[in-house]
Formats: sequence, structure tokens, C-alpha cells
Amino acid sequence: MTIEVIPLTGTLGADITGLDLSDADDDTGTALRAALDEHLVIRVRNQSLDRFQLSNLARRFGPPFLHPLVQNGFDDCPDVLELLREAGDATLFGGESWHTDISWLKPAGYASILHALEIPPVGGDTSFASTIAAFASLSPAFQDMLRDLSAVHAYHWSENREVPPWVVEHSVVRRHPVTQQEGLYVNRMFTTRFTGMTTSESAPLLAQLFDLMEQHQFTCRFRWQVGDVLIWDNRFCLHYPINDFTGHRRRMIRTSTMETVE
Ligand code: SIN
Repeated sequence: MTIEVIPLTGTLGADITGLDLSDADDDTGTALRAALDEHLVIRVRNQSLDRFQLSNLARRFGPPFLHPLVQNGFDDCPDVLELLREAGDATLFGGESWHTDISWLKPAGYASILHALEIPPVGGDTSFASTIAAFASLSPAFQDMLRDLSAVHAYHWSENREVPPWVVEHSVVRRHPVTQQEGLYVNRMFTTRFTGMTTSESAPLLAQLFDLMEQHQFTCRFRWQVGDVLIWDNRFCLHYPINDFTGHRRRMIRTSTMETVE
């Protein structure tokens, strides 16, 4: 097995060649995690995984995330969700905004793995942004100020208003346990305010951080092919599914894992 890691931008993202993910073992997991630590989002092309093989691959990245509300998991493999957008549908699963998966739990989400089964002829790309590169671009004094802050992350599923929201607090700056790099940990979808501040007091600085992370030099955009497997680290990158394929079907299977904290 000869694995090659080919960076896709100067900031984040890499293609991995030479791997068959259909029966991912410990060695495969070790190689993938090392590439993920360095590149934050990695792609392996030309795979054909069923839900059980995807779930087995995910076990190399920690304990499964079982969504407390979303019901589109498979009965016989509940950690794997089908993300289907039919040609006539208006919206994408997960919504169209920059976000990180499962920041509303603590411990939070770690890896998400998305496998393309059917894709539109053009469009439906997914973009990613490195929160590490964004943090590194800031001045030392501004970085220090951010290191002292925590933020509130909340998830309230709109169709289930009777269910109380999940609300947790996370440090605004996280340190990568392997590379020791620091990254921002706030996102448009789930971060509501800084700890100890009101939402209106928090809004200007949050907006500044969101705008910073989404600048092009911190991002990487993936155009899908059937058979692609994308793995990303939710702790240190944001993602944005692009809804520009009206009239076409897109079908993916996805699973996510939780971080383990010593
Ligand atoms: C997601 O937000 O997890 C889905 C990404 C995508 O559909 O491209």
C-alpha cells in the first residue's frame, strides 16, 4: 500500500491516493488521522462504501454521533444518515451557511465523513475554511484577548420547539491536541454570544470573526465526483454546502464522530 498525500491549497485540504476504505483497519485509520491533523479536510476518490463500511471507517475517528432529533438515520446503522436532496427540493440538509458540526455538545463533534452516491452534473460543491489559518493571521494582542473568551453554542431544532435547546460553552480558541496549533471555535450556525455578554454586545466581534474565517485565502472548495469520501475535522474547520443545483438530485451518506477528551 503506497499512500500519497497531495495538498490542494496552501492552507487546507488534501487528496489521499492509494487507499481502499471498504475495510478500513487500524493502519488505514492511523494514516488518515495523520493526514487529517495536517490538512483538516481530506478526500479519497473512487470508493464504493455501503453504510456499514462507512460506519466502520468512522470508528477509526472515535465514538459515533447519534443525532438526538434527526430521523433520517438507517434503522440498522443509526450513526449513518442519508443526505438526499431531490430535484424539486429547495434546501440542502444542514442548511446553507458556514458552520461546524455538533459544536452544541461538549465534548463536541470531531470528524464528519461524507460519501457521494449521486451528484448533480454541475454544482453542489462543498467549501471548507481553516480556523487555524484565520487565527494565525491575527496580531498577538488580539489573539491574547480572544484566548480569554468563551462562547455559548446552542442548537434548537425549529420543528421541535417543545424540545429544549442544547446549550454549551466552549473556549473561543482551541488548541489542536496533536499539532498544537490554535484555531477559532465559533460558527454562524450555532454560536449565539460570548459568555458573560449579551447577544447584541457579542454580535460585532462575532461577525468580525465569522467574516475573517470565510476569507478566500483560508478556504478550499471541493467539486464532488461519485465515489468521493471527504473527511473533515470539525474542531478546526468550517464547511459550507453550496446550493446551486436546482433541478438535480444529490444523494450522500454521512456519519460523524465525537471528540474524546483526556
Ligand atoms: C453538511 O453540512 O454536513 C453537509 C455538507 C454537504 O452536503 O456538502
